[in-house]
Amino acid sequence: MPLNPDRKPLCIRSAVENDLPALVSLDAEAFPKEPYPVFVLRQLYDIHGDRILVLDDGEELLGYILFVNTSDGYVSWIMSLAVTPHQQGHGLGRRLLVEALRRLRAERVHQVRLTVDPTNAAAVMLYRSLGFSSEEGVQRDYFGPDEHRFLMTLTLRP
Ligand SMILES: CC(C)(COP(=O)(O)OP(=O)(O)OC[C@H]1O[C@@H](n2cnc3c(N)ncnc32)[C@H](O)[C@@H]1OP(=O)(O)O)[C@@H](O)C(=O)NCCC(=O)NCCS
Repeated sequence: MPLNPDRKPLCIRSAVENDLPALVSLDAEAFPKEPYPVFVLRQLYDIHGDRILVLDDGEELLGYILFVNTSDGYVSWIMSLAVTPHQQGHGLGRRLLVEALRRLRAERVHQVRLTVDPTNAAAVMLYRSLGFSSEEGVQRDYFGPDEHRFLMTLTLRP
């Protein structure tokens, strides 16, 4: 379904507690095989709420990104990036990621890391197009048996 031109402009903002039910639904739709358990999302919000950006069209949440910095502030991990299935392919995932990277650059984070399923072509293409690379190739069994992942990194220049 295309974006509705009559809707309010899309805004990217930090998540608030009232977003949690919508975030849980969005995550479950975007990751039907392995959504975050509700208690994990709840606690990620409690601990890193300011690191969850949501894409809000004034009526519903269309996507979110979660990024968490290591304690030395040198590295940030993209823990999750999701766009609601009926709005995928309209540039929203890119928009969320670009905004997260803009914030991380401003914080002088040096490197951004993430993991991605090598068969997730859309995500891999998105990350590569923004400069992420995976020097070491596929990390076999990274998340357990047969759960292979690319570990991708991007070095940020101020
Ligand atoms: C991966 C995801 C976040 C991308 O968001 P999106 O809004 O659908 O993607 P965008 O429209 O912003 O596209 C950005 C780029 O991704 C790539 N891409 C998007 N859809 C693609 C597809 N179906 N096939 C191949 N590449 C695709 C392209 O490189 C595209 O850039 P372009 O439009 O300049 O060609 C989204 O598809 C999603 O939520 N998927 C399910 C959850 C998931 O897999 N998250 C990532 C976990 S690592």
